[in-house]
Amino acid sequence: MYGPGQQTPVHDHMVWGFVGMLRGAELSQRYRANTDGSLIADGEPDRLEPGMVDALLPAEGDIHQVFNAYKDKPSISIHLYGGNIGAVNRHVFDLASGQPKTFISGYSSDLVPNVWDRSASRKT
Ligand SMILES: [Fe+2]
Repeated sequence: MYGPGQQTPVHDHMVWGFVGMLRGAELSQRYRANTDGSLIADGEPDRLEPGMVDALLPAEGDIHQVFNAYKDKPSISIHLYGGNIGAVNRHVFDLASGQPKTFISGYSSDLVPNVWDRSASRKT
């Protein structure tokens, strides 16, 4: 979820991923390395609308920056990664130099609710 007008730094993922858009909209601006090592925008931003899915593949270049497309409402998307993304060594980038800085995102909650278990309500 991104708050109104929220955006990420330029970052990579180091594992494959899929982003499924639920509500609102998000813009994903991809970047690629220039000959001098700096990072430059790779085409126009992709706009994800509800029902659309974006794939992130490190082998094809997965450096991007994500923006909530709306300034007045949140965006909600579901992310599926090919690893424990909160514990993966990832990178944010300085565009001018292309230099990566390692980070580990962690998770915003210590609890993982089991939203799929509806067995209790079906037993009654
Ligand atoms: Fe991302």
